[in-house]
Amino acid sequence: MLTRMIALVLDEHNQLEKAINGLTRPRDMDNVIKLFAAHAVDEERIMQEVKYTDFIKHRHIHDSIVNTLKDMSLDIDITELRYNVLQLITNHITDYDMQLLNGLEIEHVRRSKED
Ligand SMILES: [Fe+2]
Repeated sequence: MLTRMIALVLDEHNQLEKAINGLTRPRDMDNVIKLFAAHAVDEERIMQEVKYTDFIKHRHIHDSIVNTLKDMSLDIDITELRYNVLQLITNHITDYDMQLLNGLEIEHVRRSKED
């Protein structure tokens, strides 16, 4: 179950990356926000499932990212908008999500070796 959820979240990272790269009109932001919010819910489910110690902090960051995305001005150059969104989301994935997921992988391997 956990393995499937990790795979889902990793797949969502790819979908987000595609959506951001496909951000060519301001209204494409709706799709990025929708995907990120859905991704956050799935990731928070994993964190609750494994009783992740940084759950509250990570959830706050998700909320703050969704608010930042919603508040972004769409009245700027689309390339700049795409760059800003990419930075915001990829930094989160690298700094927080991968820390969570790598920790879970290690724990998963450790447990399976104990069996
Ligand atoms: Fe996250």
